[in-house]
Amino acid sequence: MRLPSLYFVAMFLIGSTLVSANFYDEFDITWGDGRGKIINGDLLTLSLDKTSGSGFESRNEYMYGKIDMQLKLVPGNSAGTVTAYYLSSKGSNWDEIDFEFLGNLSGDPYTLHTNVFSQGKGNREQQFHLWFDPTADFHTYSILWNPKHIVFSVDGTPIREFKNAESIGVPFPKDQPMRIHSSLWNADDWATRGGLVKTDWTQAPFTASYRNFKAEACVVTSGKSSCASSGNNPPWLSEDLDNTKQERLRWAQKNYMIYNYCSDSKRFPQGFPPECNMA
Ligand SMILES: *[C@@H]1O[C@H](CO)[C@@H](O)[C@H](O)[C@H]1NC(C)=O
Repeated sequence: MRLPSLYFVAMFLIGSTLVSANFYDEFDITWGDGRGKIINGDLLTLSLDKTSGSGFESRNEYMYGKIDMQLKLVPGNSAGTVTAYYLSSKGSNWDEIDFEFLGNLSGDPYTLHTNVFSQGKGNREQQFHLWFDPTADFHTYSILWNPKHIVFSVDGTPIREFKNAESIGVPFPKDQPMRIHSSLWNADDWATRGGLVKTDWTQAPFTASYRNFKAEACVVTSGKSSCASSGNNPPWLSEDLDNTKQERLRWAQKNYMIYNYCSDSKRFPQGFPPECNMA
């Protein structure tokens, strides 16, 4: 019997919340042949060299949550590398909520690429530059996923809101539990300046670090959600963006968004996807 599971059962009975968990209990390094490491339970590192990248995933499957992770990205010349941090379900009609950090030459900005897949369909990219150097220090990247919307935040500032638009026929991720996944890999065929800048392998190994994982979430075990059985609705499950957050969102989008599928008219000559026309 594993102690952590007992701990979770206890936590979920009293309110479907887990807080600041130990990396050993939460995540498995799933690939990379030793290139992914958990250190003392509170730091996780992934690395990439010419032979392989690496990755990890959560042991739990979640169905809604408010999930924070601090990341410190590959420093220096990270061109060609991609650090992906995302929630994803399984199967051919999968749901996915993506943060992808596209590396760059030293001194050139990272691109934070975001996407939302529902039932196997994505094509909802928004990209950003950041207002700080994401390689100099740890910063918090958060996903709020509840029945109303999906909110991507950086250090508490919302940068993107994907609203539930089921009422106008847009599938919303709400029927499939998702795991947290992350990987560091080589994507120099497209990542930096559309593939023009290649990975400089003399700089390898490339390393990204993770710490301070914090999740309030509904965990699904054998088809049952911890939130269904807890009987009390945690506040984040119906959390909206208050006025201050909406203002921050507008600030981030106005100043740091570099691509929005909802304004790429060349790509959608027949008209934008329906969710683009929501207020
Ligand atoms: C890399 O830097 C260039 C030049 O500033 C910028 O246009 C681009 O968005 C940056 N990011 C990527 C992933 O190419």
